[in-house]
Parts: sequence; structure tokens; C-alpha cells
Amino acid sequence: MAERVIVTGAGRGLGLCLARALSARGDLVAGTVRDPSGAGDLAALPGVTVEQLDLADSASVAPAVAAMADRLGGVDLIINSAAVNAMSVPDGRATLSVRTMQADPMLDIFRVDVVGALLVVRGALDHLVASPRGRVVNVTSWLGSIGGYATDSAVNYGYRSAKAALNMATRALAAELQPDGIPAVAVNPGWMRTAMGGGDHADLAPEDSAAGIIAIADALDMDGTGRFLDWDGAERPY
Ligand SMILES: NC(=O)c1ccc[n+]([C@@H]2O[C@H](COP(=O)([O-])OP(=O)(O)OC[C@H]3O[C@@H](n4cnc5c(N)ncnc54)[C@H](OP(=O)(O)O)[C@@H]3O)[C@@H](O)[C@H]2O)c1
Repeated sequence: MAERVIVTGAGRGLGLCLARALSARGDLVAGTVRDPSGAGDLAALPGVTVEQLDLADSASVAPAVAAMADRLGGVDLIINSAAVNAMSVPDGRATLSVRTMQADPMLDIFRVDVVGALLVVRGALDHLVASPRGRVVNVTSWLGSIGGYATDSAVNYGYRSAKAALNMATRALAAELQPDGIPAVAVNPGWMRTAMGGGDHADLAPEDSAAGIIAIADALDMDGTGRFLDWDGAERPY
């Protein structure tokens, strides 16, 4: 049966691949972008509506998501894919080292990657509860793993700490929403050939990661809630 899905950051990268794959199988997708005028690829997809959302504008997020959820006629699945890293915020390079650390870029990353994702869930929560199969997939990163700390990448305080915080927020969501029967998982999408990833050097086509993440969402039930998974379903240490 067609599902009603909110995908954040759906104008490009992994989010666009997720929207494309969901559209191709007949799901209804509210795809969020910051600038709808540049979202022609997304707008062309059947069953997809383009929704304006800036996660950096915290006060606007929950009301905007509630309104798009109403337009969608309900929400069965949220995929929080939108995020920024150090390179996407003003003075973000300062968060790469404690020797250059500044508060504002650190907080800019947290506002989008952690607070924004939670506010999206808050905005759609009534619809998730009403859905026969409401669930949440938060796209995090292996760089946010504490148990499996990756020593082959820069220390990158802002992005790593934000993704670790989103991992914990996902674990907390799984606990708080357990009585509502809403599972939540954190998913590492892998090193992808996107703007944020490694361009042509990266391991993985975002289309393949999107297919894996959708398979995880399809299989997700209360037995699987609270886990941290790779895009191919393998479990990761938090
Ligand atoms: N690429 C990788 O190798 C990799 C590895 C591990 C984890 N991840 C995670 O995978 C997810 C997707 O990454 P990606 O590679 O697709 O990144 P990307 O190509 O850089 O795209 C980032 C997306 O986030 C959206 N975004 C940025 N700031 C926003 C804001 N303030 N409000 C709303 N949306 C905002 C962008 O929207 P605009 O089009 O409006 O800019 C864009 O759709 C992210 O959560 C990322 O952290 C990626």
C-alpha cells in the first residue's frame, strides 16, 4: 500500500534519491527543500510535493511540518536526511579543531542536524501516532559513533558531535515513543558520491544507499527500534 512519507533535504543528494525511489513505487512524498525554485528534479516526480523548510529557522519547523503533514493526509514515515557539516555553515572550519573552536558555527550545525530533526518529528507526531505504521528514520553518520570512533577522519567537533547527539536523540525517541508503537532508528548512509560526501572518490552511489535505507524503513518494527544501522542493515556500535 502507498505510504505517506516526509523526506527532509529532498532537493539533492541522498534525499533526492530517497524521494525518487519512493515515488517510483507509488508512495506519496512531501519532500522538503530550502528553495523550491531550485527543486525542479524533485517537483517532476509523480506523487511528490515540494515543501519549503529551513531547519535553521527553528521556530518555523514544527508548524511547517504539521501543515505539510495535513496536506499529505497523514504520515507513516519520516526520513530525516537534511544536514549540514562544517563546510556548509559560516566559519564552519573553526569547528574542525579545538584550537580554532567558535560557538556560533558549532551551534549552527546542532540547530540543523539535531534540533531540526527532532522538531520535524514533533511537527508530524500526531500523524505518526494516528498512522497504523508510524516510524522514524534519522540519517546520522559513522562519524557520530562513539563506540566505533573512526580514527581515519578529522576530529571535526561540530559534525561528529551533532551526529552523536542525533544518535542519542534517536535512542531517546525510541524510548519515548515505545508506548505509541512508533519505532525510530539511526542509519549511517555510508560514504556517498554527493556534495557532502566524497564526490567521485566516495564508495557508494546515493541511489544504492537510498535503496538500503528504504529497505530498513520497510522492515522497521518495534523489535528493531532504537538501533544504529548501516545503510545495508548491518548493526553499528553507538
Ligand atoms: N555524503 C556522505 O558521504 C555522508 C556520509 C555520512 C552521513 N551522511 C548524511 O547523509 C545525509 C544526506 O547527506 P548528503 O550527502 O545527501 O548531503 P548533501 O548532498 O550535502 O545535501 C544536504 C541536504 O541537506 C539540506 N539542508 C542543508 N541545510 C539545511 C537547512 N538549514 N534546512 C533544511 N535543509 C537543509 C540541503 O538542502 P538545500 O538543497 O536546500 O541546500 C540538502 O538537501 C545527511 O544527514 C548527512 O549528514 C552523508
